[in-house]
Amino acid sequence: MTRIRTQDDYVKAHKQSMENPEKFWGDYAEQFTWHKKWNKVCSGNFQNLDYKWFEGAKLNMSENCLDRHLATKGDKVALLFEPNDPNEDVKRYTYKQLHKEVNKMANVLKNKGVKKGDIVTFYMGMVPELLIGIVACTRIGAIHSVVFGGFSATALADRMIDAKSTVLVTNDASYRGNKTVPLKETADEALAKSPTVKTVLVAKRIGNKVNMQAGRDFWLHDELTKASDTCAPASMDAEDPLFILYTSGSTGKPKGQLHTTAGYMTWAKFTFENVFQVNENDLYWCTADIGWVTGHTYIAYGPLLSGATTIMFEGIPTYPDAGRFWQVVDKHKVTHFYTAPTAIRALQAQGLDFVNKHSLASLKVLGTVGEPINEEAWDWYYKNIGKSKCPIADTWWQTETGGIMISNLAGVTPHKATFATIPLPGVEPMLVDADGKEIKGNPADGNLCISRSWPGMTRGIYGDMDRFKNTYFTTYPGKYFTGDGARRDEKGQYRITGRVDDVINVSGHRIGTAEVEDALNQHEKVVESAVVGYPHEIKGQGIYAYVICTEKPTDQEAFKKELNALVNKIIGPIAKPDKIQLTSGLPKTRSGKIMRRILRKVAENDTSSLGDTSTLLNPEIVEEIIKGAKKI
Ligand code: WTA
Repeated sequence: MTRIRTQDDYVKAHKQSMENPEKFWGDYAEQFTWHKKWNKVCSGNFQNLDYKWFEGAKLNMSENCLDRHLATKGDKVALLFEPNDPNEDVKRYTYKQLHKEVNKMANVLKNKGVKKGDIVTFYMGMVPELLIGIVACTRIGAIHSVVFGGFSATALADRMIDAKSTVLVTNDASYRGNKTVPLKETADEALAKSPTVKTVLVAKRIGNKVNMQAGRDFWLHDELTKASDTCAPASMDAEDPLFILYTSGSTGKPKGQLHTTAGYMTWAKFTFENVFQVNENDLYWCTADIGWVTGHTYIAYGPLLSGATTIMFEGIPTYPDAGRFWQVVDKHKVTHFYTAPTAIRALQAQGLDFVNKHSLASLKVLGTVGEPINEEAWDWYYKNIGKSKCPIADTWWQTETGGIMISNLAGVTPHKATFATIPLPGVEPMLVDADGKEIKGNPADGNLCISRSWPGMTRGIYGDMDRFKNTYFTTYPGKYFTGDGARRDEKGQYRITGRVDDVINVSGHRIGTAEVEDALNQHEKVVESAVVGYPHEIKGQGIYAYVICTEKPTDQEAFKKELNALVNKIIGPIAKPDKIQLTSGLPKTRSGKIMRRILRKVAENDTSSLGDTSTLLNPEIVEEIIKGAKKI
């Protein structure tokens, strides 16, 4: 079965994927181009973390994304680029053209000495060269590591150093609404600290003056004109690394999630087709940035593997005005629209005038991802954007999972407001209590774990398998712990309630509290800090920082600005605290552990149920913190 089209199909597919995964995924994978078939579909052991998919097979990702479609869909648009400025021309690449561009880019990388297994970092705006660049890496067996263009120089340097990346691809600058982002300038600062990078390719987007270091920096357009447009696809092992993507966890340093070739490919295509139900003449648009996993799987790989047309949008939802998304939908007659709850809430707050100027009649399917969607936002999206006729696929997944894990299948299985609903074939979720005991029966509330491997699963944290094991497999031994809490309703449908670890989900972006604390603590006047999340109307969660300083600053506001600037510099604007409270102490247990539960409650402005604080080392501090919070 290549496509699930009915509820009955779904039930059968899930059952078969559980009872006979070997046959289920083996049959599905027949459609791909293989240089050599696998010995076994799934092997190794989930608990030992040595699970493998399609072991022994040889293939190439770019060949499956592009070459495989040339005979039947060569003239179909593969990539449609919608620029930041609505008056600038749209760019369209057919499968044939994209194939050529990818081959040329692959040759540029080769000419610069990039070999199989080398890591190429991308730090770019949302421009076609980014998508072309990552697919070109897969053509020659290089591993891509995309760093979101909003990250700071320090964050970029940390990631390049951790990956031992040899090449950086960047832009001179990028457009973002009415602003420009000086990517090359920031990259220069990062490069000064990243000795492994020997070559920098700069794609021109804006034409601003940038510093080009002779022998290291090259204009991409110059290199492309010298490159041939044919490049034979490298024959890769099924388990060869495809990409790494850094994500935040509950401890300081970002983790490079490692995805491999055949399993990820299978998962990307299978989930894309079945969740969104995109048909031949549909036009699909995912508004994410390729700097996040959603862009990897559902702008680039899923759609290309499926021979669909994918839209890449350079701009932001509110430029030139808050009707931009809807204007683009009408302009191209978008049928499938996939975005984040934070964008929906932000646009909802701008009022319906921006929506009602546009017809939106082409829309058939809506999707959301990245954070729990609240009921009001869901209703608004359903009624005003989908005109009460489009199913909403609420897709739960993570950087670690490679692709969607829990979601309704649009128009095939029912949606339910605020519920991601059902596990996809191959996915076996379970809820556990605090002791790791499975909670059976419905309804139920617990921590969400997955109890067997699936093709798209991360193969570990790049360079740190111990950390991988400790982070995901030790809280509840033998199970993959997602870090999320969930509820199962009486019909067994899942609702994801949010992170239960020290990760804050700000506008759908994961930020580790420890990362922000590390940044704050670098200020010479900061003694200690504690960061928690609190409910935020637009962002879902906001960042609340409690800070102890060496001496009370004379100008508190100026001091807070300094702290914000520091976080901005070390991580990037997305991690800047929304609220900073200066305090003389933090509530601690007798063993010296910060009682974050109390800090969370105060930040949430819910001080009615603080629990017993008398056992704290410093119970008196709670009163001060509650009082202080009222003034923030
Ligand atoms: C959250 C993004 C509720 C969740 C693809 C998860 C969601 C984290 C949903 C992963 C959803 C993602 N409903 N919560 N539909 N989708 N999340 O790695 O907390 O950037 O653990 O991957 O986002 O974020 P990541």
